[in-house]
Amino acid sequence: MSKSRKIIKCAKVFLKYLGLYPLIAPRKTRRFFRTIGDAILKYDTSHVSSQILQCKKIIPYAELDELFPKIKTIPMLIMPGKYPDEGGLTLYELITVCAICKYIKPSKIFEFGTFKGNTTLHLTLNSPDRCEINTLDLPPEIRGDTLFPVEDGPITGMSFSVGEKYQGSSLENKINQLYGDSAPFDYTRFYGSMDLIIIDGNHQYDNVKSDSENAFRMLNPEGIILWHDYTLLPDHRGVIQYLNELSSTLKLIRIADTCFVMSRKGDKIHHDC
Ligand SMILES: C[S@@+](CC[C@H](N)C(=O)[O-])C[C@H]1O[C@@H](n2cnc3c(N)ncnc32)[C@H](O)[C@@H]1O
Repeated sequence: MSKSRKIIKCAKVFLKYLGLYPLIAPRKTRRFFRTIGDAILKYDTSHVSSQILQCKKIIPYAELDELFPKIKTIPMLIMPGKYPDEGGLTLYELITVCAICKYIKPSKIFEFGTFKGNTTLHLTLNSPDRCEINTLDLPPEIRGDTLFPVEDGPITGMSFSVGEKYQGSSLENKINQLYGDSAPFDYTRFYGSMDLIIIDGNHQYDNVKSDSENAFRMLNPEGIILWHDYTLLPDHRGVIQYLNELSSTLKLIRIADTCFVMSRKGDKIHHDC
Protein backbone atom coordinates (compact mmCIF):
# COMPACT_ATOMS: atom_id res chain seq x y z
CA MET A 1 0.00 0.00 0.00
CA SER A 2 1.36 3.47 -0.87
CA LYS A 3 2.21 5.98 1.90
CA SER A 4 -0.63 8.33 0.96
CA ARG A 5 -3.20 5.49 0.95
CA LYS A 6 -1.97 4.41 4.42
CA ILE A 7 -2.41 7.99 5.71
CA ILE A 8 -5.94 8.19 4.26
CA LYS A 9 -6.86 4.83 5.84
CA CYS A 10 -5.51 5.93 9.28
CA ALA A 11 -7.37 9.25 9.05
CA LYS A 12 -10.64 7.39 8.26
CA VAL A 13 -10.20 5.09 11.30
CA PHE A 14 -9.53 8.09 13.58
CA LEU A 15 -12.52 10.00 12.25
CA LYS A 16 -14.72 6.97 12.93
CA TYR A 17 -13.63 6.91 16.60
CA LEU A 18 -13.99 10.67 16.97
CA GLY A 19 -17.57 10.67 15.67
CA LEU A 20 -20.64 8.87 17.03
CA TYR A 21 -18.99 5.43 17.11
CA PRO A 22 -17.89 5.75 20.82
CA LEU A 23 -21.62 5.99 21.75
CA ILE A 24 -22.47 2.84 19.80
CA ALA A 25 -19.38 0.82 20.84
CA PRO A 26 -17.78 2.34 23.95
CA ARG A 27 -15.75 -0.79 24.81
CA LYS A 28 -14.28 -1.09 21.35
CA THR A 29 -13.43 2.63 21.45
CA ARG A 30 -11.68 2.29 24.83
CA ARG A 31 -9.66 -0.66 23.50
CA PHE A 32 -8.73 1.33 20.38
CA PHE A 33 -7.38 4.31 22.35
CA ARG A 34 -5.62 2.05 24.89
CA THR A 35 -3.80 0.24 22.06
CA ILE A 36 -2.68 3.56 20.59
CA GLY A 37 -1.55 4.83 24.02
CA ASP A 38 0.49 1.63 24.61
CA ALA A 39 2.09 1.93 21.18
CA ILE A 40 3.13 5.56 21.91
CA LEU A 41 4.60 4.59 25.29
CA LYS A 42 6.54 1.67 23.78
CA TYR A 43 7.80 3.76 20.83
CA ASP A 44 11.61 3.78 20.83
CA THR A 45 12.73 7.43 20.69
CA SER A 46 16.47 6.71 20.89
CA HIS A 47 16.95 7.53 17.20
CA VAL A 48 15.08 10.84 17.39
CA SER A 49 18.06 12.84 18.71
CA SER A 50 20.24 11.62 15.83
CA GLN A 51 17.50 12.65 13.37
CA ILE A 52 17.41 16.13 14.93
CA LEU A 53 21.17 16.33 14.43
CA GLN A 54 20.53 15.88 10.73
CA CYS A 55 17.85 18.49 10.26
CA LYS A 56 18.41 21.45 12.60
CA LYS A 57 20.92 24.27 12.63
CA ILE A 58 22.24 24.04 16.19
CA ILE A 59 25.57 25.81 15.72
CA PRO A 60 25.56 29.40 17.05
CA TYR A 61 26.42 32.29 14.75
CA ALA A 62 28.49 35.46 14.87
CA GLU A 63 28.72 38.49 12.59
CA LEU A 64 31.79 38.61 10.36
CA ASP A 65 33.12 41.78 11.98
CA GLU A 66 32.68 40.33 15.46
CA LEU A 67 34.92 37.46 14.45
CA PHE A 68 37.40 39.69 12.62
CA PRO A 69 37.28 43.23 14.08
CA LYS A 70 37.45 46.04 11.47
CA ILE A 71 37.33 43.49 8.61
CA LYS A 72 34.75 45.66 6.82
CA THR A 73 37.33 48.42 6.39
CA ILE A 74 39.67 46.24 4.33
CA PRO A 75 39.22 46.46 0.55
CA MET A 76 39.27 43.26 -1.43
CA LEU A 77 39.08 42.19 -5.08
CA ILE A 78 36.08 40.53 -6.72
CA MET A 79 35.91 39.57 -10.38
CA PRO A 80 32.71 40.44 -12.25
CA GLY A 81 30.54 37.37 -12.71
CA LYS A 82 27.21 35.67 -12.19
CA TYR A 83 26.57 35.05 -8.47
CA PRO A 84 25.56 32.61 -7.26
CA ASP A 85 26.97 30.45 -10.03
CA GLU A 86 25.27 27.06 -9.78
CA GLY A 87 27.35 24.87 -7.44
CA GLY A 88 29.51 27.78 -6.25
CA LEU A 89 29.33 30.46 -3.56
CA THR A 90 26.89 33.35 -3.31
CA LEU A 91 28.34 36.82 -3.83
CA TYR A 92 28.31 37.57 -0.10
CA GLU A 93 29.98 34.23 0.66
CA LEU A 94 32.67 35.02 -1.89
CA ILE A 95 33.14 38.46 -0.32
CA THR A 96 33.42 36.75 3.08
CA VAL A 97 36.14 34.36 1.91
CA CYS A 98 38.06 37.17 0.18
CA ALA A 99 37.80 39.39 3.25
CA ILE A 100 39.02 36.63 5.59
CA CYS A 101 41.87 35.95 3.20
CA LYS A 102 42.87 39.64 3.14
CA TYR A 103 42.56 39.78 6.93
CA ILE A 104 44.61 36.74 7.93
CA LYS A 105 47.22 37.02 5.11
CA PRO A 106 47.71 33.27 4.76
CA SER A 107 50.91 31.67 3.50
CA LYS A 108 49.24 28.36 2.69
CA ILE A 109 45.67 27.53 1.76
CA PHE A 110 43.98 24.21 1.05
CA GLU A 111 40.64 23.94 -0.75
CA PHE A 112 38.61 20.70 -0.93
CA GLY A 113 36.52 20.88 -4.13
CA THR A 114 37.93 23.20 -6.82
CA PHE A 115 34.97 22.88 -9.20
CA LYS A 116 35.37 25.59 -11.87
CA GLY A 117 37.93 27.39 -9.68
CA ASN A 118 36.04 30.60 -8.98
CA THR A 119 36.82 30.55 -5.25
CA THR A 120 40.39 29.45 -6.03
CA LEU A 121 40.79 32.45 -8.36
CA HIS A 122 39.54 34.81 -5.65
CA LEU A 123 41.89 33.25 -3.10
CA THR A 124 44.81 34.05 -5.42
CA LEU A 125 43.59 37.63 -5.88
CA ASN A 126 43.20 38.32 -2.15
CA SER A 127 46.16 36.50 -0.64
CA PRO A 128 49.78 37.68 -0.33
CA ASP A 129 52.01 37.14 -3.39
CA ARG A 130 53.98 34.43 -1.58
CA CYS A 131 50.81 32.44 -0.73
CA GLU A 132 50.53 28.88 -2.05
CA ILE A 133 46.98 27.76 -2.86
CA ASN A 134 46.44 24.02 -3.00
CA THR A 135 43.12 22.90 -4.42
CA LEU A 136 41.87 19.35 -4.86
CA ASP A 137 39.21 17.90 -7.15
CA LEU A 138 38.38 14.68 -8.90
CA PRO A 139 39.93 13.98 -12.27
CA PRO A 140 37.10 13.44 -14.81
CA GLU A 141 37.88 9.72 -15.17
CA ILE A 142 37.03 8.89 -11.53
CA ARG A 143 34.03 11.20 -10.99
CA GLY A 144 31.73 8.17 -10.76
CA ASP A 145 34.20 5.96 -8.91
CA THR A 146 35.03 7.44 -5.50
CA LEU A 147 35.50 5.74 -2.13
CA PHE A 148 32.31 7.38 -0.82
CA PRO A 149 29.52 7.85 -3.37
CA VAL A 150 29.19 11.50 -4.43
CA GLU A 151 25.84 12.96 -3.35
CA ASP A 152 23.36 14.19 -5.95
CA GLY A 153 23.27 17.97 -6.12
CA PRO A 154 23.08 20.94 -8.49
CA ILE A 155 26.34 19.98 -10.25
CA THR A 156 25.47 16.30 -10.77
CA GLY A 157 25.95 15.51 -14.45
CA MET A 158 27.17 19.05 -15.18
CA SER A 159 29.96 19.28 -17.67
CA PHE A 160 32.81 21.46 -16.41
CA SER A 161 36.55 21.55 -16.53
CA VAL A 162 38.26 21.64 -13.11
CA GLY A 163 39.75 25.11 -12.57
CA GLU A 164 38.44 26.58 -15.84
CA LYS A 165 37.83 29.99 -14.21
CA TYR A 166 41.41 30.58 -13.08
CA GLN A 167 43.13 28.98 -16.06
CA GLY A 168 44.96 31.58 -18.10
CA SER A 169 45.00 34.09 -15.23
CA SER A 170 48.31 35.81 -14.49
CA LEU A 171 48.10 34.48 -10.92
CA GLU A 172 47.85 30.83 -11.93
CA ASN A 173 51.41 30.24 -10.70
CA LYS A 174 50.18 30.59 -7.09
CA ILE A 175 47.88 27.59 -7.57
CA ASN A 176 48.81 23.97 -7.05
CA GLN A 177 46.00 22.02 -8.69
CA LEU A 178 45.73 18.54 -7.17
CA TYR A 179 43.70 15.70 -8.62
CA GLY A 180 42.32 12.73 -6.76
CA ASP A 181 39.59 11.34 -4.56
CA SER A 182 39.81 13.35 -1.32
CA ALA A 183 39.12 10.37 0.99
CA PRO A 184 42.11 8.13 0.14
CA PHE A 185 44.31 11.11 -0.88
CA ASP A 186 47.73 11.33 0.84
CA TYR A 187 48.03 14.66 2.72
CA THR A 188 51.15 13.89 4.79
CA ARG A 189 53.30 16.53 3.02
CA PHE A 190 50.84 19.24 4.15
CA TYR A 191 50.57 18.27 7.84
CA GLY A 192 50.57 21.18 10.30
CA SER A 193 51.11 23.80 7.59
CA MET A 194 47.79 25.31 6.43
CA ASP A 195 46.58 28.76 7.55
CA LEU A 196 43.21 28.49 5.83
CA ILE A 197 41.27 25.40 4.74
CA ILE A 198 37.96 25.45 2.86
CA ILE A 199 35.92 22.23 2.81
CA ASP A 200 33.49 22.11 -0.10
CA GLY A 201 33.93 18.72 -1.80
CA ASN A 202 31.55 15.77 -1.57
CA HIS A 203 28.81 16.61 0.95
CA GLN A 204 28.08 13.00 1.86
CA TYR A 205 28.54 12.39 5.64
CA ASP A 206 31.52 9.96 5.54
CA ASN A 207 33.33 12.15 3.01
CA VAL A 208 32.77 15.35 5.03
CA LYS A 209 34.09 13.52 8.12
CA SER A 210 37.14 12.21 6.26
CA ASP A 211 37.90 15.63 4.67
CA SER A 212 37.50 17.32 8.06
CA GLU A 213 39.81 14.87 9.83
CA ASN A 214 42.42 15.40 7.12
CA ALA A 215 41.90 19.16 7.38
CA PHE A 216 42.63 19.09 11.13
CA ARG A 217 45.87 17.21 10.40
CA MET A 218 46.90 19.82 7.81
CA LEU A 219 45.95 22.87 9.87
CA ASN A 220 48.60 24.84 11.70
CA PRO A 221 47.72 25.63 15.35
CA GLU A 222 46.52 29.17 14.50
CA GLY A 223 44.74 28.19 11.29
CA ILE A 224 41.08 28.47 10.29
CA ILE A 225 38.77 25.88 8.75
CA LEU A 226 35.69 26.97 6.82
CA TRP A 227 33.03 24.40 5.91
CA HIS A 228 30.63 25.43 3.17
CA ASP A 229 27.00 24.32 2.78
CA TYR A 230 25.78 24.10 6.36
CA THR A 231 22.19 24.21 5.06
CA LEU A 232 18.97 22.27 5.45
CA LEU A 233 18.91 21.18 1.79
CA PRO A 234 18.62 17.38 1.42
CA ASP A 235 21.94 17.09 -0.48
CA HIS A 236 23.76 18.90 2.38
CA ARG A 237 22.44 16.56 5.09
CA GLY A 238 25.90 15.03 5.56
CA VAL A 239 27.43 18.46 6.27
CA ILE A 240 24.83 19.46 8.85
CA GLN A 241 24.91 16.05 10.54
CA TYR A 242 28.70 15.90 10.78
CA LEU A 243 29.10 19.51 11.98
CA ASN A 244 26.30 19.21 14.54
CA GLU A 245 28.02 16.13 15.96
CA LEU A 246 31.41 17.85 15.92
CA SER A 247 29.98 20.89 17.73
CA SER A 248 29.50 18.79 20.88
CA THR A 249 33.28 18.47 21.24
CA LEU A 250 34.64 21.51 19.37
CA LYS A 251 33.74 25.20 19.33
CA LEU A 252 32.20 25.93 15.92
CA ILE A 253 30.59 29.15 14.70
CA ARG A 254 28.32 29.93 11.79
CA ILE A 255 29.21 33.12 9.95
CA ALA A 256 26.02 35.21 9.79
CA ASP A 257 24.28 35.45 6.37
CA THR A 258 26.41 32.68 4.86
CA CYS A 259 26.40 28.88 4.80
CA PHE A 260 29.88 28.83 6.33
CA VAL A 261 30.80 27.25 9.64
CA MET A 262 34.19 28.20 11.04
CA SER A 263 36.58 26.59 13.49
CA ARG A 264 39.12 28.88 15.13
CA LYS A 265 40.41 29.30 18.65
CA GLY A 266 38.80 31.78 21.10
CA ASP A 267 35.64 32.94 19.29
CA LYS A 268 32.64 34.75 20.82
CA ILE A 269 29.22 33.37 19.90
CA HIS A 270 25.46 34.16 20.05
CA HIS A 271 23.34 31.33 21.37
CA ASP A 272 20.00 32.32 19.79
CA CYS A 273 20.42 30.12 16.75
C1 LIG B 1 30.27 22.34 -4.60
S1 LIG B 1 31.58 22.04 -5.68
C2 LIG B 1 32.85 23.10 -5.08
C3 LIG B 1 32.62 24.54 -5.37
C4 LIG B 1 33.85 25.40 -5.23
N1 LIG B 1 34.39 25.31 -3.90
C5 LIG B 1 33.52 26.83 -5.57
O1 LIG B 1 33.41 27.65 -4.66
O2 LIG B 1 33.32 27.12 -6.75
C6 LIG B 1 32.14 20.46 -5.15
C7 LIG B 1 33.36 19.95 -5.87
O3 LIG B 1 33.86 18.84 -5.14
C8 LIG B 1 34.33 17.89 -6.03
N2 LIG B 1 34.33 16.57 -5.37
C9 LIG B 1 33.27 15.79 -5.08
N3 LIG B 1 33.67 14.66 -4.48
C10 LIG B 1 35.01 14.73 -4.40
C11 LIG B 1 36.01 13.84 -3.90
N4 LIG B 1 35.69 12.66 -3.36
N5 LIG B 1 37.31 14.21 -3.98
C12 LIG B 1 37.65 15.42 -4.52
N6 LIG B 1 36.75 16.31 -5.01
C13 LIG B 1 35.45 15.96 -4.95
C14 LIG B 1 33.35 17.96 -7.21
O4 LIG B 1 33.94 17.43 -8.38
C15 LIG B 1 33.06 19.45 -7.28
O5 LIG B 1 33.88 20.09 -8.21
